[in-house]
Amino acid sequence: MTRPRVLSGVQPTGALHLGNWLGAIRNWVDLQQDHDTFFCVVDLHAITVPHDPARLAEDTLTTAALYLACGIDPARSTVFVQSQVPAHSELCWLLNCVTPLNWLERMIQFKEKAVKQGDQVSAGLLDYPVLMAADILLYDADRVPVGEDQKQHLELARDIAQQRVNARFAPRGADGEPLPVLKVPEPMILPEGARVMSLSDGTSKMSKSDPNEGSRIALLDPPELISRKIKRARTDPTMGLEFGNPERPEADNLLGLYAVLSGRGRAAVASECAEMGWGRFKPLLAEAAVEALRPIQQRYHDLRADPIALEAVLAEGRERAAAVADATLQRVRDALGFLPVKPVSAKTR
Ligand code: TYM
Repeated sequence: MTRPRVLSGVQPTGALHLGNWLGAIRNWVDLQQDHDTFFCVVDLHAITVPHDPARLAEDTLTTAALYLACGIDPARSTVFVQSQVPAHSELCWLLNCVTPLNWLERMIQFKEKAVKQGDQVSAGLLDYPVLMAADILLYDADRVPVGEDQKQHLELARDIAQQRVNARFAPRGADGEPLPVLKVPEPMILPEGARVMSLSDGTSKMSKSDPNEGSRIALLDPPELISRKIKRARTDPTMGLEFGNPERPEADNLLGLYAVLSGRGRAAVASECAEMGWGRFKPLLAEAAVEALRPIQQRYHDLRADPIALEAVLAEGRERAAAVADATLQRVRDALGFLPVKPVSAKTR
């Protein structure tokens, strides 16, 4: 029996943080058991906002090494760099031409990021979700494990596959029934960790693009820095930590982080911290974060000490990914009616 296929990715923009880990990568690790898993570093997405060319390659390697350090096993998963599989860019173009512009203008993340950039906003930023749809659809992914913030982009990928490609271009099989060109993927958003909030504002999500470094804990932050950031994290004047009080978003977020990072679960920490003051709680949370990240940081440094091995993982991943992606791209090219590529014959040479 074939295992369900999974695809996901993280952008190599700046340091990966607890939200990326708890909302996405941590869930990928478990999926390796019984899914056919593809994980890419989405470097083409990273240039949709102004980027530093001197850092892109290095950040790409850092992100790939963090995947492995978090428990992605290259013997079980295909780990690759998006820009190294050209089918991503080509399918993106084909999908661009069937995707209504107003579907993209509705995207919440575009609207939020575009506001910050004013008249410098690139066409690539608007097109970001179409490239993401191409990433997913190229691999016939059944499931896409992401954080809550990506839900709208996944719905778009489903709509493009179903309404704009399959419904319009599916060829007919021998029995006259349409043969879907693209697999329609399901989102996979696990409730725990799906929305990790900023340390400086419990109502906005932890994000790489927040100019305040203190708002997030990066996976590679040293222990002292983690403790300092948690010490300065925003609190409220109420005694005792609790979940689910809309007046206390910081308490909900930090208690939730403590539950996951300590591995003790929500019920246990809710009763442990119900009467606890912030002054006692914060060092506990800091220790849980440091201990949870320690093995990841150790493995990360070992992996970065052997760049040849890391590049070999990515080269092998690229080959495996390209074989799957090229076959899907061919299906779409055929469905859209492009002139087939013919090999050069002896006559025409
Ligand atoms: P990126 O790099 O912004 O985020 C990577 C993953 O981390 C999750 N995430 C969070 N989860 C919980 N709390 C947070 N504060 C938080 N911040 C980020 C995101 O939901 C995401 O799962 N567009 C994607 C990258 C991408 C992709 C794809 C994902 C490109 N192509 C194909 C899946 C499939 C993104 O958000 O990257």
